[in-house]
Amino acid sequence: MMMKRTHHCNALRPANQGETVSLTGWVDSVRDHGGILFVDLRDREGRTQLLLDPAHTGLAALLPRIKPESVIAVIGEVVARPGETVNSKLATGGIEVAVTQLEILNISKTPPFPMDETADRVSEDLRMTYRYLDLRRESNLQMLKLRHATTRAIRNYMDAEQFIEVETPMLFKSTPEGAREFLVPSRMNPGHFYALPQSPQQYKQMLMVGGVERYYQLARCFRDEDLRADRQPEFTQLDIELSFIDREDMYALIEGLMQRVWNEVLNVRLEAPFPRMSYNDAMNRFGVDKPDLRYGMELVDCAQIFRNSEFKVFSAPLSSGGAVKAINAKGLADLTQGELRNLEDVAKSLGAKGLAFIKCENGGWKSPILKFLSETEQTELKETLQVEEGDIIFFAAAEWERACTILGRIRLDAAQLLVARGKLSIDPDVFKFLWVVDFPLMSYEEDEKRFVATHHPFTSPVEEDIPLLESAPQKVRGQHYDLVLNGVELGGGSIRIHQPDLQKKVFEDVLKIPADVVESRFGYMLRAFSYGAPPHGGIAFGLDRMVTVLAKRSSIRDVIAFPKNQRGQEMMTGSPGVATAKQLEALHVRVVAPKADSPADASPTA
Ligand code: AMO
Ligand code: AMP
Repeated sequence: MMMKRTHHCNALRPANQGETVSLTGWVDSVRDHGGILFVDLRDREGRTQLLLDPAHTGLAALLPRIKPESVIAVIGEVVARPGETVNSKLATGGIEVAVTQLEILNISKTPPFPMDETADRVSEDLRMTYRYLDLRRESNLQMLKLRHATTRAIRNYMDAEQFIEVETPMLFKSTPEGAREFLVPSRMNPGHFYALPQSPQQYKQMLMVGGVERYYQLARCFRDEDLRADRQPEFTQLDIELSFIDREDMYALIEGLMQRVWNEVLNVRLEAPFPRMSYNDAMNRFGVDKPDLRYGMELVDCAQIFRNSEFKVFSAPLSSGGAVKAINAKGLADLTQGELRNLEDVAKSLGAKGLAFIKCENGGWKSPILKFLSETEQTELKETLQVEEGDIIFFAAAEWERACTILGRIRLDAAQLLVARGKLSIDPDVFKFLWVVDFPLMSYEEDEKRFVATHHPFTSPVEEDIPLLESAPQKVRGQHYDLVLNGVELGGGSIRIHQPDLQKKVFEDVLKIPADVVESRFGYMLRAFSYGAPPHGGIAFGLDRMVTVLAKRSSIRDVIAFPKNQRGQEMMTGSPGVATAKQLEALHVRVVAPKADSPADASPTA
């Protein structure tokens, strides 16, 4: 019979002295003091020091078998530790348990990596192959608890606000355009496929037509896209949709939600309302639609200075409607040649022809472009950018959006270089929320020679812009909003189109989707809207991204119990795997043999 625990490993204090207790858990560490063992016993809640004396009947034979990560149960007496041996770093550091009975429940092999925080230095794939061991580390267990606290706070708030949690299908309709969909073959419908949903967007709108009024779901979403630190092929959205609301109602609802979550999870009080910024301002000032407002280094427009410049690299883009933007990276004039080259490479990867710069060093300006700039231009630059000793100015001259994007990225990288030099601090405990609004509804796709929806085709245009839909689609603003936090896009949504005529017009006349394609993909939606669709709108948050910020981690992989690696593989179980000929036959699927250079099967290594 296994001994049952009376306390968890974070419970005992000097006040428990003299009690007989039973503890269960994992052997965290073993220290041998001349035959007497000091064992740190660990469970989900914490650690307690055990004292195991081989002089005790029955213990001597068992002690040599105690290995780290083995599972044991003990009975013993709580003893207050003498003053000098108190461990003030441990909640239970004032006591130890003098063990009288020991049961070894399972012996562990030696783990393949250290079980303390130095494990962060071993390869992520190795940690993920043994994720069950990785999860035993305190920081990872804390992360799972924090994620749970976040979803609990969300559910509490949504419930208090009268939302109903509704599940929508995971097997959705596949679409020919869905290049980033995961397809699921249908055994019962040969040659037909489901797709895993990229989001519950269409179903949640149908719930509004169905009279649900206030819906939410912690919904799993699937996108077969290139993976980065902030993207996974499957991730969780807090998905929300409401009827009879406008943008202001949405902002107030979500600000309340964030206040509740931050308060319950981090005990932090957030100020509301959150500031708002138009997409244009965000691009102009920060070069990105998700600005990190924890530091300045804003983009400065140099059109006035260089409009008539002799330096054609700057004046030419201006005369063809483009922009010249600059930032002052204060104190970064000491950057190395290598760092400068990296910044140039980044700028070029975004389509820049170069990355002009001016350093202010030893009382003078140094730059390959200085000889092209007139006295007046230099004086105006100095004033506008407040150039001082030790600064470096970077320039981008190109079409407006490209120039902004290039410098937006240089701003982020320069900030990291300044942080590394201790010249800038970006505080993870400061939470700068921001609504980014007034996005263009459409953007022109050069390759396809047509307009595409900036977000998705269900977003309602701003009312006064509707007359421009056909004549000047690029000028139409959408009723879209993104919630941004410290440079991370936490979520986005919009007020939707609910009038069937307007939705049809957007599909066919603006987005130029052929009528038969509209019918087969969205016909059911247009029909639904013709049966009394209420005005509605919604939003979806990346839960994993939200938890990453709350946990002050850098990758969403850190806050997912079983994440996938950069190649989309889950290393522990070895997914994805190969299907047998028999399976494929039942599914009516034929596989074209993988090319020799395609990635190997992700089978577990042990
Ligand atoms: P959107 O596509 O902007 O909107 O997604 C909403 C939020 O989901 C998160 N997110 C991701 N998180 C992790 N990995 C990914 N691959 C990933 N892709 C997106 C982001 C993003 O802000 N249906 C609309 C919402 C609406 O209009 O209501 C939608 O899905 O944090
Ligand atoms: P060039 O005259 O092309 O040799 O360019 C002179 C300097 O301006 C070099 O340092 C280039 O890196 C930089 N440069 C060139 N084109 C651009 C541009 N579009 N925006 C910013 N800098 C540029």
